[in-house]
Amino acid sequence: MSGSNAPIGVFDSGLGGLTVVREIIRQLPNESIIYFGDTARVPYGPKGEDTVIRYSQDIAGFLRKQKVKAMVIACNTATAHALPTLRAEQDVPVIGVIEPGARAAVAASRHLKIGVIGTRGTIRSRAYDKAIAKLAPDATVSTAACPLFVPLIEEGWLDSEPTRTIARGYLEPFTGGKIDTLVLGCTHYPLLKTVIGETIGRDVRLIDSAQETAAETARVLRENGIEATRSEAHYRFVASDDPEQFLAVGQRFLGAPLERVELVTLGA
Ligand code: DGL
Repeated sequence: MSGSNAPIGVFDSGLGGLTVVREIIRQLPNESIIYFGDTARVPYGPKGEDTVIRYSQDIAGFLRKQKVKAMVIACNTATAHALPTLRAEQDVPVIGVIEPGARAAVAASRHLKIGVIGTRGTIRSRAYDKAIAKLAPDATVSTAACPLFVPLIEEGWLDSEPTRTIARGYLEPFTGGKIDTLVLGCTHYPLLKTVIGETIGRDVRLIDSAQETAAETARVLRENGIEATRSEAHYRFVASDDPEQFLAVGQRFLGAPLERVELVTLGA
């Protein structure tokens, strides 16, 4: 193949995956994107594996109908549960957020003492532990689920005293030199980078999987010879519920104005 101007399909349980879209736009400005946020069924974090796989299959089916040339699962929980299934079922490359995040953490960590925070589903799946162990068998990995972070971020409580108090509680087990690197293993967490960074201290490097996933997407497009040949990118944003809320809050995640959000209902 020699290039393709078909869009990249990106999906998340809701708005958080827009932090990945932001990075893809920054690193790959010629690529068109169709983003699906499953706002009708968010959050995925507390849900079981089979449910998250089924939801992800619904979305992948929708994106394939839009003729995407590659898919990015811009959701840690969906990557943790559904990446192998989608890779087996889809005839286009499927990129997740966990392998790129794990790779970046191993590269950044000085003493291979790595912490990972994410939703309950992501932490329970041990997907990060396995991905890091594969790259660096000697690494020590400590993990913590931070279920209150997602609702705080969705409500816009990014730099508030309650958020700081909760962050101190969640991050306490990592303090005292136990880790030198912390993976922000949830698409929402880059919005809490300031609070998390101040709480955990300057010596700990924070890994934002959005940046690494965009770099991985660039690599996969190049390796498959399906990079855009035109410099005319188009963006479509689709939500499964409440497009107005998506429009209002999504800009915070995207870091740019959003003009239109389509409504598409999937599955049950
Ligand atoms: N997008 C999810 C993730 O990255 C967080 C929100 C949710 O629980 O659905 O894990």
